[in-house]
Amino acid sequence: MFGNIYKGKKVLVTGNTGFKGSWLTTWLLHCGADVYGYSNGVLTEPSMYRVLNLENQVHQYWADIRDRGAFADCMRQVRPDFVFHLAAQAIVSTSYKEPFDTVTTNVIGTAAVMDALKEADWELTAVIITSDKAYDNVEWIWGYRENDRLGGKDVYSGSKGAAELVIKSYWHSFLKNKPNVRMAVARAGNVIGGGDWSRDRIVVDTMQAFARGEAVEIRSPKATRPWQHVLEPLSGYMRLAQALAAGEVKSGEAFNFGPRAEQTKTVLQLVRDLAAGWGMNPDTAVRITGEVPFEEAKLLKLNCDKALAYLSWHATLNYEETVRFIIEWYAAFHRGEDDMLQLTNRQIEEYERRHDYSA
Ligand SMILES: NC(=O)c1ccc[n+]([C@@H]2O[C@H](COP(=O)([O-])OP(=O)(O)OC[C@H]3O[C@@H](n4cnc5c(N)ncnc54)[C@H](O)[C@@H]3O)[C@@H](O)[C@H]2O)c1
Repeated sequence: MFGNIYKGKKVLVTGNTGFKGSWLTTWLLHCGADVYGYSNGVLTEPSMYRVLNLENQVHQYWADIRDRGAFADCMRQVRPDFVFHLAAQAIVSTSYKEPFDTVTTNVIGTAAVMDALKEADWELTAVIITSDKAYDNVEWIWGYRENDRLGGKDVYSGSKGAAELVIKSYWHSFLKNKPNVRMAVARAGNVIGGGDWSRDRIVVDTMQAFARGEAVEIRSPKATRPWQHVLEPLSGYMRLAQALAAGEVKSGEAFNFGPRAEQTKTVLQLVRDLAAGWGMNPDTAVRITGEVPFEEAKLLKLNCDKALAYLSWHATLNYEETVRFIIEWYAAFHRGEDDMLQLTNRQIEEYERRHDYSA
């Protein structure tokens, strides 16, 4: 998969200790890459980063992404072939408690990355990860396209929209005429999967409650989300970097990566399916509290025609497989499975087998 492009290559992942960063690191290692990580710490305990013992498999830089000098030093030392920028304050609820930190991490942090790209004097391909929340959510029923308006009413969304403006202005001012640096933006929505322990994420809360044998409380049962396994957007990011490096797609553009349309289910449906998969009675395993402690945007769907047309990318797993992957991962963890890396690699291999890129 990915035409073997990552084999033996130096790949720098910012935010490598987080949920997506840990899966991406594992996949890149699986592809034979030499992975470098840049993060300010490990945010959760437990964490996939520690469970898979990734610290001993990557070259780790511990620093703040807002520290422009530290990031520039890291880039100059590593001279990576690929950069995936994921470091961010990624939790919507945290953005209500720590709005200033969210803005500086997501906007200034992205500026630090763009600034280092501007200075790079070697061949380099970068994928900058923002979010579907970068779009101005007008709550219409259609999928958002890459050229729709950016914006965001809450601070997290606004910080992602602002990061996009920074990326665009750096692109036009410096990178457009710098052919050795190829760059694109990747936007994806909420992801789910094994190995997440972040706060206020529904799958995380659910699996933790079920692991204790307790019911889970949900506050917005009817909210719908286009659920997708974490491997879906990651396959898009990796395919995008491959296509950029090979000159198959133009540099400086944005791409959406979203799930299949039929995966838009309610929170209640997902939690009931997780309960059934975990061996609990869905009627008693879910308690609806109906309280929404902070305002959340209601519907946001991505149109992924561009990724299909230019990258031959599409989502792979169906809803049932997505639920199965999650149950399988957390069940193994709670059983005390000693080789979670092997299990994670098995899921990656199953995903690769199911996917049918021509590349
Ligand atoms: N998880 C999702 O559902 C989702 C959805 C859309 C977009 N995203 C985006 O994908 C990216 C990764 O998300 P995630 O779920 O893995 O997040 P996460 O919270 O699990 O991990 C965040 C990572 O960023 C690092 N980080 C945070 N602040 C930092 C700082 N100041 N300096 C250096 N490192 C810092 C953390 O150490 C961690 O490695 C983020 O940009 C996020 O906004 C995530």
